[in-house]
Amino acid sequence: MGRFFVAVYLALNFSVAQGQEQVTWSADIACLVYTHCTPCHNDKGIAPFPLQSYEDAYRFRYGIEPIIASRQMPPWPPSTDYGDLAHERVLTQEEIDLFQHWVEQGAAEGIPDQAPTPPVYASSLEITDPDFSVRLPSFEIPDLREYDLYRCFVIPTNESEDRYITGIEIAPGNRKVVHHVILFQDTSGIPEQLDAADPNLGYTCFGGIGTNTASMVAGWVPGSSAFSAPEGMGIYLPKGATLVAQIHYPEGSAGEIDSTLINIKFSDQTALRRIENIPVLNHFLGIDRPLFIPANTRQTFHETFSPVPFKVIVTGIAPHAHLICESMKAYATTLTGDTIPLINIPHWDFDWQGFYEFKKPVIIPAFSTLHGEATYNNTTSNHHLPGDIPVDVSVGEATTDEMMLFFFSFAVYQQGDENLVIDNNQHTPHYNDCSYAGMTVATQDYAAGSPWKIWPNPASSFLHIETSTSADVVVIRLTDLWGRFILEERMTDNQRQINLPEGLPSGVYLCQISDQSGVRSAWKKVIISR
Ligand code: HEC
Repeated sequence: MGRFFVAVYLALNFSVAQGQEQVTWSADIACLVYTHCTPCHNDKGIAPFPLQSYEDAYRFRYGIEPIIASRQMPPWPPSTDYGDLAHERVLTQEEIDLFQHWVEQGAAEGIPDQAPTPPVYASSLEITDPDFSVRLPSFEIPDLREYDLYRCFVIPTNESEDRYITGIEIAPGNRKVVHHVILFQDTSGIPEQLDAADPNLGYTCFGGIGTNTASMVAGWVPGSSAFSAPEGMGIYLPKGATLVAQIHYPEGSAGEIDSTLINIKFSDQTALRRIENIPVLNHFLGIDRPLFIPANTRQTFHETFSPVPFKVIVTGIAPHAHLICESMKAYATTLTGDTIPLINIPHWDFDWQGFYEFKKPVIIPAFSTLHGEATYNNTTSNHHLPGDIPVDVSVGEATTDEMMLFFFSFAVYQQGDENLVIDNNQHTPHYNDCSYAGMTVATQDYAAGSPWKIWPNPASSFLHIETSTSADVVVIRLTDLWGRFILEERMTDNQRQINLPEGLPSGVYLCQISDQSGVRSAWKKVIISR
């Protein structure tokens, strides 16, 4: 290519770079939406409208912008600075700013071909290849006459060997009326007898499932997603065990039909480490006073479990309360006076409860004390109050009663557990690894704190990269100004030479270095002149 052509090419590319400062759907926003929103906002998902195209996002742009800025969406009630939870659904401030700029600048589409391909959601289920799957028969909820219904459905497993559950997903058939599902396992034969004695499908149960030999396997509450056990661990299911799903249909559900689905993955192994799911902190034992919240009062309760008899690892936690609860928090204190934060939910939302896992299992030393705190607001300042005026609330199973439970998923500590990892990402991995062509130009000096060099620049056949970072592995990516992928290489040393592909046209390119998670990254413009 002659000198003249190189000059024209560069000029064109620079004008493109200028144009890119405008935030567009194709270059910037689609990536964020496909990463953080469409997992729920798709045509089969749980959110009320899809966000699967530019048209969808454009239509809802004024609704989206403030809801992201106030961090109401994506829904993630726990504080991000208390406990180290896995799979956090949170946007970075940079991502929030980008949305805001997009809307302010008129929410342009940009160049449609350059948007990432939209994800396809074949099913709203997370476990699509279960080893055991059951859809409960259609159940018409009878007239409850102002009572909540707790109905137990018996599910024989017919497994001839002991099994370990490594994944489980419960998908309510009718989300309008399913308040919760708790799945138990039992081998006493009593649930079958109770079922046979009731002429209708299942049997009515309250509290538990009518036996005291049952143990909890999993649960679904609004906001739950599928459970998957950490590597090498599982929930024990004895051979021949019966699963019993206790489903709570609140008052006012009469006439509705539900048919809930349960999908389970089993391990191939016959012996696995057991995870127990137990409400270790609860309002039956270890609460500082009975859970009673008189009308027009705000009350904080404290639960403890002490001492933890041996060293354990906690892989997950699920706080549970009902409507008038305002906040929930759990932590552990050790004999040496350390506090181990577990979870803090500053604005409890009954509709967004979850089973939360930790990035790494939390190690709790023997003889520690577990603590739970919850505040209930039974005054008119609480807009989640079930009625118009506050009435006395006490402990109970109805939605309008209250509870204070913290389910712990834990296992006895084993040597080496320090190395277990449940979630390695600092930030939700970006859908299709899409890169931000638009942002890169603006943020190219991001790496000021960790100098790195690239030479020669302009380059013709190779690039030499030198960093001062201490990260074990640095990923180098070369893209064009649109963020289109050209090559990716890893450097495990502070220096690396990369040969440029033959046939790569002269022009301006972007070279990104980042740590393995892709979160800490920096960019430089590179000119290739051949
Ligand atoms: C985990 C599932 C989930 C994710 C992820 C999610 N949403 Fe939602 N979204 C919902 C549900 C469910 C609702 C319905 C209201 C509710 O239940 O809070 C909703 C409601 C909304 C609303 C309407 C809110 C209102 O008050 O009317 C907007 C706007 C919205 N979402 C935007 C987004 C955007 C933008 C993203 C990505 C940045 C996102 N959501 C991510 C599930 C989700």
